[in-house]
Amino acid sequence: MTSRFEIGETDFLLNGEAHQIISGAMHYPRVHSGLWRDRIRKARLMGLNAIETYIPWNAHESVRGDWRADGDLDLGRFLDIIHDEGMNAIVRPGPYICAEWHNGGLPTWLTGDESLGLRSSDPRYLAAVTAYLERVNAIIAPRQIDRGGSVILVQIENEYGAYGSDKAYLAELIRVTRAGGITVPLTRVDQPISHMLEGGAHEGLHTTGSFGSRIDERLAALREHQRTGPLMCMEFWCGWFDHWGEKHHTTSVADSAADLDRLLSAGASVNIYMVHGGTNFALTNGANDSGRYLPLVTSYDYDAPISESGDLTDKFHAYREIISKHAPVPEVPLPTATDAPALTVRLEAVSDPLSLIATHRGPFDAPPTMDELGSDVTLVEYAVTAPGTGLLEAEVRDYAWVLRDGRPVGRLQRTVQDDTLALPAGQELRLLVEETGRVNYDTRIGEAKGIIGIPLLNGTPVDGPWTVRTFDVSALAKSLSDAPVDLTAISGGRVTGPVALRGRFHLDESADLFLATHRWGKGYAWVNGFFLGRYWRRGPQRTLYVPGPATRRGVNEVVILELEGASDASARFVSRPDLGHEVE
Ligand code: GLA
Repeated sequence: MTSRFEIGETDFLLNGEAHQIISGAMHYPRVHSGLWRDRIRKARLMGLNAIETYIPWNAHESVRGDWRADGDLDLGRFLDIIHDEGMNAIVRPGPYICAEWHNGGLPTWLTGDESLGLRSSDPRYLAAVTAYLERVNAIIAPRQIDRGGSVILVQIENEYGAYGSDKAYLAELIRVTRAGGITVPLTRVDQPISHMLEGGAHEGLHTTGSFGSRIDERLAALREHQRTGPLMCMEFWCGWFDHWGEKHHTTSVADSAADLDRLLSAGASVNIYMVHGGTNFALTNGANDSGRYLPLVTSYDYDAPISESGDLTDKFHAYREIISKHAPVPEVPLPTATDAPALTVRLEAVSDPLSLIATHRGPFDAPPTMDELGSDVTLVEYAVTAPGTGLLEAEVRDYAWVLRDGRPVGRLQRTVQDDTLALPAGQELRLLVEETGRVNYDTRIGEAKGIIGIPLLNGTPVDGPWTVRTFDVSALAKSLSDAPVDLTAISGGRVTGPVALRGRFHLDESADLFLATHRWGKGYAWVNGFFLGRYWRRGPQRTLYVPGPATRRGVNEVVILELEGASDASARFVSRPDLGHEVE
């Protein structure tokens, strides 16, 4: 059955009837694909009639031309499930998406070219964007509501008015989108601040706003800017995200529910950002930098109504009650949360795990950036001969372990603007540099990573030749399978990194798990080869979410790559998540 979805004088129109969109954001790569239906259904039970998702370009095409849209990236299937559940879909393909996502969704192979005018009508940038949009529109177009599918709106760019005002760029995105067969109304989102509403405006786009409070004032700002048509808050921020080293954010359920009521009572449409935040699996987390570089934690729980592990929170119940005043809410028994299995797993160590995933490069006269070494290089070891002793100065993005003749002598950390170190006497200098997340907002999107410039020893540049090893972090769990165990690496239950730890455990049936990480230093974890993401002693996050479908009945395997050092060489799975000390 096909339907018509349009923008009327005062309302969205579904087959000519006024329609209030009550939507929630859920980003498909942040949810294990085996749980998409569960989470979408739960969102429907809260009373939502639509699901919104961004499309992260860099997840689909991390290597130029190597397009992937299967498994956890099967956008078509995600949209089809929304349709099966009787809901509508809103799609936001960017190409820039922000979203606390690595590089704001832009591929590093694109942003690595510093001469490119990002988010502008630079023809070379547009050529890449056009090829990307053609691919995603081929997935979206047949799934539009006027073709019997779920998609009712497609957004162009994201908060463009906070970044630029290149109208030719917006015009070209609209042209390519329409040429790609998108017939539903096109929207844009901006923060409801005058210059942003102006900068991101285009006649082909219906304006929506992003805000989580001061509802009346924000709606008035939108109305002032756009005299007719439905009002929509495209991002009703119901919670917030966390950076490493900060407190865990939560919001007041009562205040947030009252704000949702205000929005719906005003007749506005809404997209709750997020109804279910999910997880920054693998290396997908972004970072912010407005003076200080702050990478995002692995959890994207967002204090959303449906928690990271799919539980219905107090906010869920409060929102459901509010929504029921404005729209029909399914009257069915709601699922309740259960504790996850708690177990402790003995681990064995594999020494020198980095050599299993290393590629040797060089020599170079000066240390190359990660971007110069290839797309999506995130962990690099730089080595050079640098005799002497004194003050080492190096700009690293973002975190470095420094070794002198093979011995660890300290760290350099961008988050705390720590870029100097007293280097003991010796010959060889090595820096293991980790990219901890690419900035997703503002002007630092696409900035180079790794060692920036040439390090100085006592004020003098450290001459090459520099040699380099790049490490394919994502391949670690698989590469370990035949690696020999080092019986001496664990001493008194403690290990020094870099070291890989692995262990086996038994489950009676597949189940969600929470892996406690607070006795470990800094690294990455996998279960059955599924890349859970990063952990860091700094917190606030102290458990990693293991989605049930990544586990199985019978024997399971946990692997960690510890880069620093752990005071507990066992893996503890605990019954509840621990995202850290809360702050409202
Ligand atoms: C903005 C962006 C979103 C997200 C939120 C904060 O509104 O549009 O992508 O980054 O901020 O979570």
